[in-house]
Amino acid sequence: MSNILRRGRLDAAPDEEILKYTSSMEADRWIFDADILVDLAHTVMLKEQGIIRAEDCGKILSGLLQVREEGMDKLDFSYEDIHISLESRLIDLVGEDTGGRMHSGRSRNDEVATCIRLVLRDELLGLLEEIRALRKTLLALAEKHSETLMPGFTHLQHAQPTTLAHHLSAHAQALGRDFDRVLDAFSRVNLCPLGAAAFASTGFKLNRKRSSELLGFAGLLENSMDAVSSRDFLIECASVFTNLMINFSRMAEELVLWSTSEFGYIELDDMYASTSSIMPQKKNPDSAELMRGKTGVSVGALMSLITICKGLPLSYNRDLQEATPNIWRSVETVRASVRVMEGMYGSLKVRPDVLGSQATAGFTTATELADTFVRETGIPFRTAHQLVGILAREGCEPTLEKIDSISEVVLGEALSARGLTENLVKEALDPESNIRRRNAIGGPAPEEMGRYLAKQKTELELNEEEIATLKDSIDSSLEKLLSVVEEYRKG
Ligand code: ARG
Repeated sequence: MSNILRRGRLDAAPDEEILKYTSSMEADRWIFDADILVDLAHTVMLKEQGIIRAEDCGKILSGLLQVREEGMDKLDFSYEDIHISLESRLIDLVGEDTGGRMHSGRSRNDEVATCIRLVLRDELLGLLEEIRALRKTLLALAEKHSETLMPGFTHLQHAQPTTLAHHLSAHAQALGRDFDRVLDAFSRVNLCPLGAAAFASTGFKLNRKRSSELLGFAGLLENSMDAVSSRDFLIECASVFTNLMINFSRMAEELVLWSTSEFGYIELDDMYASTSSIMPQKKNPDSAELMRGKTGVSVGALMSLITICKGLPLSYNRDLQEATPNIWRSVETVRASVRVMEGMYGSLKVRPDVLGSQATAGFTTATELADTFVRETGIPFRTAHQLVGILAREGCEPTLEKIDSISEVVLGEALSARGLTENLVKEALDPESNIRRRNAIGGPAPEEMGRYLAKQKTELELNEEEIATLKDSIDSSLEKLLSVVEEYRKG
């Protein structure tokens, strides 16, 4: 048997079913490039520490670059994972006397943990960029609609008038928290487990700081047992993704509702719609529905991860292999969702006339009318609430005359006798004046919204800088790694 892993200790090779059951090769496609980087950095460090000879280092590095060039499909898929398959290919290329030295002072346990972190940190950076782009689109749309009236809802019942800007920037604000959570998770992902070996570190005089620095990590995951066995960073990311997808499912639900004939507030671009195979008139908001549905993928991944990791004793256990694909499934879904959401909002056709005509439907100005009674006549709010409640129940036009007749029954006194006028009533019922009055911090008044949106935009610019700083630092480390590799290749 020529299997470089099993040939010493084991006799029988796994049959096809066992191999399929135990292999991570397919999911390892995610970490192929990362594994090459990890191998390069480890080899460079081994040479610098005098653990392998410069000549062997040069050959290993050249071999690794060739394996990278050939791509994942050139590897032997009868191995149980990418790490050993890649090492076997290297040995094919440069011989065991050289290639067989690469794995000194290392285990697949620290290797795989490092690979996952390398890939995930890139995915997180991509996601941060995508969330930023979506927030930008939402805020730009909000800016256009700071005067577009619409009904605001509670319990999905018309509640008070607001503006589309207020509504959209509420979603943008929630996304700001998602951004912060991804950034925070990044700081715990971007740590290096390499050098922990199987779990107990190694007697080779490794330089863990050097490998970490070559790979552009912000620091080490020091305790070698924790380094190989913890996957809380996956649970954390899956939970962050789930929070984001829950927010998305709410936004998607609105897009679905708002596209109905009942609402008619918006029309999605045709790109995001499908039609029926039988009902030729249909324009269905499929992308938004699927996004609502795909929330299940991230919730499912989170549930799988926490269930797989629960109760595992220290240190590495093979169960952990089963955890990894969940994060890939989740991050792929979440990133695609952010991009599709950005596209849907970026191309949305808004119907300001419908939104505006619905702004006062369902007596949404009732609160302002009650507030006006309080401010102008000095009656308690609870009494004003009762008076307007009676008006709403009777479903009649809220004229001064009607208000007076109700207040005479309830209070024994007409509100007009306490200073209420036709004009004050008219103003209370005017949705635009409702909005203008709501100018406290975070309210929909266009002036306040202008301030808020400007502040959000500044935040977006800061976010852009934060992302660029993180990217630059990683890129420059990897560039340095590759230039050291070029230098050492020469032997
Ligand atoms: N494919 C394995 C994983 O994803 C790599 C580590 C294997 N380690 C081991 N001791 N069998 O976890």
